[in-house]
Amino acid sequence: MLLGVNIDHIAVLREARKINDPNPLDALGICKISGADQITIHLREDRRHIHDEDAKEICRQSILPVNLECSINEDIIDIVCKLKPTRATLVPENRDEVTTEGGLDVDKNFDRIKKAVEKLHKHEIEVSLFIDPNKKMIKKSSELEVEWIELHTGTFANIYAMLYANLSNTHHSIKELELSRDELKILLDKSRKEIKKAAHYGQDCGLKVAAGHGLNYQNVTKISSIKAIEELNIGQSIIARSVFSGLRQAIIDMKELL
Ligand code: PXP
Repeated sequence: MLLGVNIDHIAVLREARKINDPNPLDALGICKISGADQITIHLREDRRHIHDEDAKEICRQSILPVNLECSINEDIIDIVCKLKPTRATLVPENRDEVTTEGGLDVDKNFDRIKKAVEKLHKHEIEVSLFIDPNKKMIKKSSELEVEWIELHTGTFANIYAMLYANLSNTHHSIKELELSRDELKILLDKSRKEIKKAAHYGQDCGLKVAAGHGLNYQNVTKISSIKAIEELNIGQSIIARSVFSGLRQAIIDMKELL
């Protein structure tokens, strides 16, 4: 199973002080020697963490392939074409969100996405679409002739956290949703089955299948055990662990689980 390490959160920490420390570029060599297979970054429209200069230097200096997540906004696509990452992952973007909140609606935005995909392909950048594990979205993605889809695992991760992590006092709390533990276990199983079914359907459509969002050291094996998934992109949990164990050990620990 391939691992893309999302290093945005190193830039989040830097932005807390608006200085150049820690520098996301310093992660490139560590990711490589620790067994990561890919560097993932998100160039957001509001540049809240990764800046244009980071993206430029990461694309220039990384020995590992770079997977650049971005919106379908035309200005951003033009920038990505100049940066020439190995892959562009198209994601929905909403300025008020804390993180990406769901998959792209490939049906509703079909023509805009098609234009972006054609432009990226013209610049020899492979394309992935970040979508919910849903048959219609996968079918539409394959019509767009993209190389990859990345299945959104956020719902699965939220249910897992409701069951096994202490998330009381948040909007994920079991109490607020008034669901029993047994009901949550059924929902978790259903969510994993949806991801598995979607991964197999994606593979049958000739797409390479990645997955990501909310994956951590507790829940990851439930997803990495799905054979049709080739790659996981993980950020928050790896960077969080690295505060205590160092980035190298955090990546080694995650790779071992995969
Ligand atoms: N994949 C995509 C498309 C994302 O937008 C993100 C978050 O930036 C991730 C994976 C990583 O998610 P997390 O930080 O929750 O591991």
